[in-house]
Amino acid sequence: MKKRVLSAIQPTGDMHYGNYFGAVQNWVKLQEKYECLYGVVDYHAMTMPYKPKKLRENTWELIFNLIALGVKEENLFIQSLIPEHTELCWIFNNYAAMGRVENMTQFKDKSQQSTAKSEGFISVGLFDYPVLQAADILIYKADYVPVGADQKQHLELTREIAQRFNNQVGTEYFALPEILFTETPKIRSTADPSRKMSKSAGEKHIISVFADEQVIRKRIRSAVTDAGDTPEGEMSDGVKNLFELLKAAGDMDSHASLMEDYENGQMQYSVLKEAVAEALVSLSLAFTEKKKAVLAEKKDVKYRIKQSSGKIRKLAQQTVREVKDLCGLVNVKF
Ligand code: TRP
Repeated sequence: MKKRVLSAIQPTGDMHYGNYFGAVQNWVKLQEKYECLYGVVDYHAMTMPYKPKKLRENTWELIFNLIALGVKEENLFIQSLIPEHTELCWIFNNYAAMGRVENMTQFKDKSQQSTAKSEGFISVGLFDYPVLQAADILIYKADYVPVGADQKQHLELTREIAQRFNNQVGTEYFALPEILFTETPKIRSTADPSRKMSKSAGEKHIISVFADEQVIRKRIRSAVTDAGDTPEGEMSDGVKNLFELLKAAGDMDSHASLMEDYENGQMQYSVLKEAVAEALVSLSLAFTEKKKAVLAEKKDVKYRIKQSSGKIRKLAQQTVREVKDLCGLVNVKF
């Protein structure tokens, strides 16, 4: 039996190389070895101020993007099409310790952002976010959860909820899911290598995976190689980032030979940049083509994703039935 992997991503903005190399590329690879379930978590996206029309657009856009990048349709689901996630979240609210949830750094960060931007409105949903995340994971009895280090705390909380639930109902119902740490490259902004590639800093800080050739070449040509604050004898963040991009894009030969040149003090930045641009252009060309094909059959894709969500929902329904039995709720099959 294959082990089960679960991960999820919020529907926000477009897809850049930071997201791709940092997460989605790994999702695609994991499909070879594991049974994978990947969610687009639109309920989570409601926890910060948002626009309804935009939310639905972004949800589908992310689905199309993930498919274009190589995620299999049958592994994808839309969270809100599986309402059992929220039902289990409610049940878990009673097994999650207030003091622990209060301590989540993502909640602290986001509520600060919220205070700065939107008249100080912080929703109960934002607070409860990690409990819904625990439901996302445990509802499928996932063995592994591939996420970045920033999600470690949420995974620990998930395990605590599972443990408390098990203790209270007197049986080891939930196995404790493990975080799957994979070395994924942390891509930085080419315009400012001191910060990570992220849309929040502005358009020039990201390179979309669907960017056209000119944009990619321009971004890479103008990439900051040395901000002048690198200690003697060390590689600057900007150059490290370019090497990282080259490796992540899979051009190992250029990576090895340029690294050798670098160590011999013979590397020209322009040559490194050319190699990086070349590698990204060829990836983006393939992604863009696949995206076009996906968009050409948009309606069918939407239909199939609703079907796959329905199929995945069966697993969720089974868990919720069992959980309700265990925790003293009345069950009926309508
Ligand atoms: N909180 C995750 C993030 O910000 C997204 C997420 C929601 C998630 N539910 C999940 C990740 C379940 C893994 C498993 O990236």
